Amino acid sequence: MALMISREMRLISRPVGMPVEGNFALAEVDLGTLAPGAVRVRNRFISTDPYMRGRMLDGPAYASPFPLGAAIPGRAIGTVVDSTAPGFRPGDIVRSMTGWREAFDAKPQELELIDTLGISPHHFIGVAGVPGLSAYAGLTRIAKVQAGDIVFVSAASGAVGAVACQVAKLRGAKVVGSAGGSEKTAYLREIGVDEVIDYKAVPNLGAALAAAAPDGIDVYFDNVGGDHLQAALANARPFARFAICGMISGYNTTGPVPGPANFAQVVGKSIRIEGFLTANHMDLMPQFAADMAGWLKTGAVKSRDTFHDGIETAPTAFISLFTGANFGKPIVRIAELSN
Ligand SMILES: NC(=O)c1ccc[n+]([C@@H]2O[C@H](COP(=O)([O-])OP(=O)(O)OC[C@H]3O[C@@H](n4cnc5c(N)ncnc54)[C@H](OP(=O)(O)O)[C@@H]3O)[C@@H](O)[C@H]2O)c1
Repeated sequence: MALMISREMRLISRPVGMPVEGNFALAEVDLGTLAPGAVRVRNRFISTDPYMRGRMLDGPAYASPFPLGAAIPGRAIGTVVDSTAPGFRPGDIVRSMTGWREAFDAKPQELELIDTLGISPHHFIGVAGVPGLSAYAGLTRIAKVQAGDIVFVSAASGAVGAVACQVAKLRGAKVVGSAGGSEKTAYLREIGVDEVIDYKAVPNLGAALAAAAPDGIDVYFDNVGGDHLQAALANARPFARFAICGMISGYNTTGPVPGPANFAQVVGKSIRIEGFLTANHMDLMPQFAADMAGWLKTGAVKSRDTFHDGIETAPTAFISLFTGANFGKPIVRIAELSN
């Protein structure tokens, strides 16, 4: 195998407030010759995710901060281009946590072989990967959604949200989805969401949710926190279940994040609120990925992602998560090798 130059995107300063392109820098690395027992991977699809914002801070969090001056770790799907390790052959598709790099050398234990199950490999960092599983685990294990439930989903057209809406529909629930802008709400209708709210266009989110769900909600799948959580509390039925997946509205704040003003309703309505990390539900992944591949093939679940071409676009893709410029998952696509 010839030497290979790989470009990688590094974090060079910690964002204060909204991340900016200047927090990142492109660098070139010569991978040299492949060591014995190692696997060389050319990335094809790189994931950018909201949780990465928390790891760009140098403070207490559930996971360690990203180091400065190094490629940003994160999920990626790649193709093995060379291997001196048993069990890996050129052409194999692998998932890794090696992040924003065009190519890299890895130990076998750092790679997960992917059976693509007849769907595009990029789905394994999206709808059939951790974002999809987050929706599935949150709805089925945390909120225990049932037929007839009225389910409210925030950031409903996003990577997690769109799967949450569609899995809730498959389970027989009625779904209210909230998203920013008419293109996103039109998409929600296209994927079968019963009632949609363009939260950027309504003067009062709580009143808009009351109009969309006059009998109240049984389940809230929270991706946003803040005003959305407050609206969900105001419209919850007694014994409602809230699955807290994320609270993106607070990820770029520089001061304390205000709590919902009506949090006391959790007592009077006997609401169960439970946060969860998908990392604690990975046992569901094999069956979930197989189910999702089937749903995608039959059209029972639809997926729409945003592709950004070239490693140099990774900061733009990442920042789009916080401006709402993304549609579904922002995926950085790396061109396949021509030789
Ligand atoms: N618990 C876990 O283990 C786990 C795993 C994966 C993801 N998550 C969480 O799940 C949530 C969704 O993640 P994702 O990857 O699917 O991202 P996403 O929903 O595809 O993208 C983020 C979306 O959030 C919305 N948003 C951003 N800032 C907002 C604000 N201030 N107010 C209201 N909406 C805002 C935007 O949608 P609009 O254009 O509609 O505003 C944006 O498109 C995030 O909170 C993430 O942290 C948690």
